[in-house]
Amino acid sequence: MHTGTSQIDEISTGERAARIFCASNLVPAPGKYLLAWALSEPDTPLPAPVFLAETCPGGFYAAAPLPVAWIPGTTLHLTGPLGRGFHLPAIARRVVLVSLGATPARLLALIRPALAQGASVSLLCANPPANLPLAVEILPPDSLTEMAAWADYLALDLPRERLPELALAALAGQTMLEVLLETPLPCGGLGECGVCAVVAGRKIWLACKDGPVFEGRQLI
Ligand code: FES
Repeated sequence: MHTGTSQIDEISTGERAARIFCASNLVPAPGKYLLAWALSEPDTPLPAPVFLAETCPGGFYAAAPLPVAWIPGTTLHLTGPLGRGFHLPAIARRVVLVSLGATPARLLALIRPALAQGASVSLLCANPPANLPLAVEILPPDSLTEMAAWADYLALDLPRERLPELALAALAGQTMLEVLLETPLPCGGLGECGVCAVVAGRKIWLACKDGPVFEGRQLI
């Protein structure tokens, strides 16, 4: 884990919500996160989790959503990277990314690594982002069952409250499955607040430390 300060260089309304310049050891791997405090908001009690959308020279594009008060020039104090991220298998050739939340932003970080290893990539989401590589196939979320049968690696971005409604066992039986849970991460495991707790598979998991990316079988 590292700490450092950095500056927001650019803000956008898209999935790549901000460009952040920082030391290379602070750039989170796909699915891992940083905790960020804006130095201009010393009274804000909780940090914001910041995920990778895409790397760029000198830093990275952070995935949406981010705090609305952040603007170009905002200086951030960063801690991390934290948590367990995605483990894209090097042998995966049929990669399916599925967003069942408001945005697929946190899955975008897997696209270029998957394409670089020669995989076909499909993105299932309700609101497709602009400026995706042409090689990425866009499909609606209700293609999930069909595409899970085709995939050899499936990454799901899932709001915590939707966990009980998903037939994860069926998906995990067909393919290698990883699930990025969308949940508040106020202390990043540093204060053991318990806000990120998830009960699954007869265990209590802390998404901030055990995840936020879980193997599908851990949540069944
Ligand atoms: S965010 Fe506090 S224990 Fe997980």
